[in-house]
Amino acid sequence: MQNFTFHNPTRIVFGEQTIAELAALIPDGAKVLLTYGGGSIKRNGVYDQVVAALEGKVFFEFAGIEPNPSFDTLLKATALLKSEQLDFILAVGGGSVIDGSKFIAAAACYDGDSWDLLCGKAKVQQAVPLGCVLTLPATGSESNGNSVVTRYSTQEKMAFSSPLVYPQFAVLDPTTTYSLPPRQVANGVVDAFVHVMEQYLTYPVNAPVQDRFAEGLLQTLIEQGPQALQRPEDYAVRANVMWAATMALNGLIGVGVPQDWATHMIGHEITALHGLDHAQTLAIVLPALMQHQRRQKRDKLLQYGKRVWQLAHQDEERLIDEAISHTRAFFEQMGAPTRLADYGIDASAIEPMVERLVQHKMVKLGEHGDITPEVSRRILQQAL
Ligand code: NZQ
Ligand code: ZN
Repeated sequence: MQNFTFHNPTRIVFGEQTIAELAALIPDGAKVLLTYGGGSIKRNGVYDQVVAALEGKVFFEFAGIEPNPSFDTLLKATALLKSEQLDFILAVGGGSVIDGSKFIAAAACYDGDSWDLLCGKAKVQQAVPLGCVLTLPATGSESNGNSVVTRYSTQEKMAFSSPLVYPQFAVLDPTTTYSLPPRQVANGVVDAFVHVMEQYLTYPVNAPVQDRFAEGLLQTLIEQGPQALQRPEDYAVRANVMWAATMALNGLIGVGVPQDWATHMIGHEITALHGLDHAQTLAIVLPALMQHQRRQKRDKLLQYGKRVWQLAHQDEERLIDEAISHTRAFFEQMGAPTRLADYGIDASAIEPMVERLVQHKMVKLGEHGDITPEVSRRILQQAL
């Protein structure tokens, strides 16, 4: 196991009817910016619960943070926060609203062009404190320090990471997820699954705690994900999916082990250029990447096939083939297609995506740094 430090400061408040606890979670005297998306929280009753919990507090609203949140929209929210001198952000929604709010938190304390924070030119030195109410289990954004923002004018999707933007608290009420459309249920399960895979499917470093945790999360998602589609109002299922998605990217399973993240980086370019949902890109890239990197990932692929899918072939190549085909079938079963062609994207789209990877310095991806632009090209070809 590699050396590590681990500190996750987010207080998780989990369970039915926990939104009311916002009243006590938000610091006394705070002037709050309430951020949300396109209106799902108004239709499913979450907004009313939040506003009831904020009674007696000073708060302003900023609505309309898009899926794959837009840099320009977030700048407007930052301007509102500054002009009204607000000092706490409450993000209510999915990963996009929470990521967007982290960016607002950092941009409000940065004097230069805030794109600097995303393109790597500047580091976050200070941020406005934030908390969140999660309505879409998927990204883990509710208890990590990551934020992904899209600049639509240049078709760039970029990320930053800082310990200063961990939410102080995250309210996770599984009943808020009953209203998710099937596509977003699928997105959430696939995203969480791939987060685990990016931290697990590398090479062994004798870290059984992390491995067994990861395998447990994968099996939970394989078992509960389809049930969430079949029985949208099954509380236990929703609760299990929600907790699995948080655990998948709150840092715990990634400590002390090598990580990959190539699927995500290639996927971000697909979203930036073709507008696919984040998880749709992952369902396309991961099976192709597993196939292409099967030699480097051999030991972990065998372990994954045996422990997660209970495969028992003597022939190891066949076992790996099946581990990959089971993964693909699981994504398809959730309703996430696994080929570029399923979205009308053909071979002519590959070169521009590879060029973007180069432009964004994504030229040594993977746990060995051996996913060069040439390898990314082959992975995308395999994903057609
Ligand atoms: O905008 P509203 O009206 O709220 O609707 C949203 C949106 O249209 C809807 N939705 C959310 N909760 C709902 C609901 N609809 C009905 N009932 C509910 N309870 O779902 C749609 C998608 O929401 P979004 O927040 O975009 O989805 P997700 O949580 O999958 O977030 C995706 C974003 O997170 C980034 C992605 O790149 C993408 O930009 N990621 C963030 C990560 C992180 N911070 O660590 C890691 C991830 O790998 C990922 O990159
Ligand atoms: Zn993701």
